[in-house]
Amino acid sequence: MVRPRRLRTSTPMRRLVAEHRLHASDLVLPAFVREGIAEPVEVASMPGVLQHTVSTLVDLARECVAAGLGGIMLFGVPEDKDAVGSGADDPDGILNVATRAVVDAVGDDLVVMTDLCLDEFTDHGHCGVLRENAAGATVVDNDATLERYADMAIAQARAGSHVLGLSGMMDGQVAFVRGALDREGFTDTAILAYSAKYTSALYGPFREAVCSSLTGDRATYQQDPANATEAVRELELDIAEGADIVMVKPAGPHLDVVAAAAQLSTVPVAAYQISGEYAQIVAAAERGWIDRDQAALESVLHIRRAGAGIILSYFALELAARTAQRG
Ligand code: PBG
Repeated sequence: MVRPRRLRTSTPMRRLVAEHRLHASDLVLPAFVREGIAEPVEVASMPGVLQHTVSTLVDLARECVAAGLGGIMLFGVPEDKDAVGSGADDPDGILNVATRAVVDAVGDDLVVMTDLCLDEFTDHGHCGVLRENAAGATVVDNDATLERYADMAIAQARAGSHVLGLSGMMDGQVAFVRGALDREGFTDTAILAYSAKYTSALYGPFREAVCSSLTGDRATYQQDPANATEAVRELELDIAEGADIVMVKPAGPHLDVVAAAAQLSTVPVAAYQISGEYAQIVAAAERGWIDRDQAALESVLHIRRAGAGIILSYFALELAARTAQRG
């Protein structure tokens, strides 16, 4: 009889025949740094995730190095916000200050990435600047936003960021930012494009983490979860515009898109297990309904199996130790 179960009889056997594994070096930890706090503050909807001070963020980055992680993705939470997100390209803005500190401490041992988007810095919470259109409606101004992204890119590159995570979903953002970086001589600063970024209820905990002031949603710029072909178009555009890495986000709900990206992409493919994916697992585990460790590992392994080479996850640090054990 043909018995597939023979290859499942023991842990070493299962490990031997495993088709996919997680490596710490493929994992990236998203991390928050908040201006004006003296001690870290836990994000209520993301137990275990903190808004850091610059100093505790540097400690966290050192932990990432010790765990063998591939990178850290930094998000800034400014004290003051305004309509154009002035804190984003201010060299003394919290994200740029923190980036400098992290790069100084661990820049040779860890890929330091920074979120390049205005939503954390605007008082209206949108990812771009607003304008009134001809019909009198307030809309996100794509092309004016590109100018802000270019300024932000230069500021982040100056602060030493290795990889800029363009998460705003404005048309043409990759080419525009690439051009600006190159003109300023930052030819080695890489772009990770959030190419297929879907609008989602699962961003809720993140919006708490960055003290977002958004009312409404981002449906006019983030993708409709009903669409997959459109994601291929976005991916192809970003690759043509010069993205060094492309990303699909949220990861778990869009594994079909991760798989499609892995097939077609000529650059590395990343996927982002977002705040709400993390919160769902942690909340159910807190109720004793699922096993946290097992669920965390499974959820990230699925993203790997779908074809993501790089995975951003709030579980990255705790998984790193366990991937070593799994071999
Ligand atoms: C935009 C950005 C968001 C996330 C990463 N970059 C928020 C959004 O689109 O509302 C969400 C990440 C997460 O939920 O973990 N700057």
